[in-house]
Amino acid sequence: MRIVLLGPPGSGKGTQAKFIIDKFGIPHISTGDIFRKNIKEGTPLGVEAKSYIDKGQLVPDELTIAIVEDRLKEDDCKNGFMLDGFPRTVAQAEALTKALESMNTSLDHVINIAVADKALVDRLTGRRVCLSCGASFHMVFNPPKKEGICDYCSAELVQRADDNIDTVSSRLEVYGTQTKPLIEYYEIKGLLRAIEGEKDIDKVFEDICKALGSDK
Ligand code: AP5
Ligand code: MG
Ligand code: ZN
Repeated sequence: MRIVLLGPPGSGKGTQAKFIIDKFGIPHISTGDIFRKNIKEGTPLGVEAKSYIDKGQLVPDELTIAIVEDRLKEDDCKNGFMLDGFPRTVAQAEALTKALESMNTSLDHVINIAVADKALVDRLTGRRVCLSCGASFHMVFNPPKKEGICDYCSAELVQRADDNIDTVSSRLEVYGTQTKPLIEYYEIKGLLRAIEGEKDIDKVFEDICKALGSDK
């Protein structure tokens, strides 16, 4: 299973990725999580990425592509992977195709989770995340079992620095101009699996499993 999760900010990529990797036993590669880990550790990559992420802009393609190329060469990706939030530009998509070709492989599915802008703003501004394991919760739509604590690893939940209304607006705009064209790009390649994301989290997962040709 070599899968890409596509969808606007807040569409539920991270939430669904957790279920998908458990079911299929593949690694979760989230470029956003990789950048946030580096920001937390204060690495040079983190410092550079932060200057873009805080403005709601994309981190430059060259930097992002190099990170994913290296990650895909690791042993745990041999039998598949779940890319979340990559590719986000046509240049990234083309680099991914080339990288996989050089490893004699290709993508199986590109899942596109569609959600309207209004719902995205509510989801992002009410989100709380675990910086330790990457899990996402929502104060109203998906509260953790214990307030402020991650269900999966018991670390403290925080609000992401880019989940304020101004940055969310920029992220949605950037998505529309730079990432949305990938829907058609993958549709033409016959890889796109369209998922309606404005349903209960469980139901969205059920639809994703169906689109992947598997029971929930
Ligand atoms: P990234 O971390 O990838 O953020 P994003 O794409 O903006 O997406 P999010 O993580 O915000 O949303 P999600 O779809 O994962 O939703 P979630 O499941 O959390 O990227 C951050 C930044 O890093 C980018 O802006 C960019 O600067 C940089 N970056 C990353 N990748 C890059 C790349 N490839 N190239 C260049 N730059 C890159 O859910 C959201 C909320 O909704 C949660 O609260 C959740 O509980 C709730 N929710 C989920 N599903 C449902 C549902 N069905 N019903 C109700 N609520 C729901
Ligand atoms: Mg995410
Ligand atoms: Zn956690």
